[in-house]
Amino acid sequence: MAQVQKQGVTPLVEMRDICISFGGVHAVDHVSVDLYPGEVVGLLGHNGAGKSTLIKILSGAYQADSGEIHVRGKKATITNPRDARALKIETIYQTLALADNLDAASNLFLGRELVTPLGLVDDDAMEAETRKIMAKLNPNFKKFNDPVSALSGGQRQSVAIARAVYFDAQILIMDEPTAALGPHETQMVSELIEQLKAQGIGIFLISHDIHDVMKLCDRASVMKNGQLVGTVDVDDVTDDDLLGMIILGKKPGVAAD
Ligand SMILES: Nc1ncnc2c1ncn2[C@@H]1O[C@H](COP(=O)(O)OP(=O)(O)O)[C@@H](O)[C@H]1O
Ligand SMILES: [Mg+2]
Repeated sequence: MAQVQKQGVTPLVEMRDICISFGGVHAVDHVSVDLYPGEVVGLLGHNGAGKSTLIKILSGAYQADSGEIHVRGKKATITNPRDARALKIETIYQTLALADNLDAASNLFLGRELVTPLGLVDDDAMEAETRKIMAKLNPNFKKFNDPVSALSGGQRQSVAIARAVYFDAQILIMDEPTAALGPHETQMVSELIEQLKAQGIGIFLISHDIHDVMKLCDRASVMKNGQLVGTVDVDDVTDDDLLGMIILGKKPGVAAD
């Protein structure tokens, strides 16, 4: 995957020396990661490595015990999900938190409905906006009047992404976006990710799948036991290098301890 040019570009996100403990467990232990416009950074690691916890600090679900977050070059205080959203950070959850009984447009605007001048929910305007954005993101999408329970995993994913993009997300967090998707659906998600990148959106992609990370990401940050093993350009490493980082906590070219 093409290497992103970083010189002179302000990162969208810098998380610096982040720590958080639960009881005695150092869930995230002095971790620093960053994200540039138009790139996908994979967060890799075994279950319990601290990936979700790190990203929940960025999305405002948890607050770090120490460390700093800088967004577009400015120190940010993110104490709740609303703060994150105001900074144009949106999370697409693994479980795809869509309302199953509602159609795509209602889900896209859930909690942020468009209204007529009289203050009534404007279903026509919401469907028109949804058709516009889907024509760009996923032109094959046709199920505008079905409840999203009738959609495939990839189609649901595109509704969740459309929601984030419509509200001008610049920093997207995707937790296991291709888990439980078939090959065709995974391909759809990978095309969506390419489109988001082309718009300059930065994506943290949480995964435990090395192949997905090799395919979808520009860089990978590997975590183990709450600590950062290292960050590598995916073009510079093999699958086995990444595996060694995940399992042994060993950076390529560096002896394990
Ligand atoms: N709310 C919580 N309370 C207590 N322990 C937690 C909480 N959230 C995460 N942890 C612990 O933090 C560690 C990292 O978990 P997590 O971030 O979910 O890992 P990953 O996403 O890499 O699988 C684990 O030991 C987990 O049990
Ligand atoms: Mg997790």
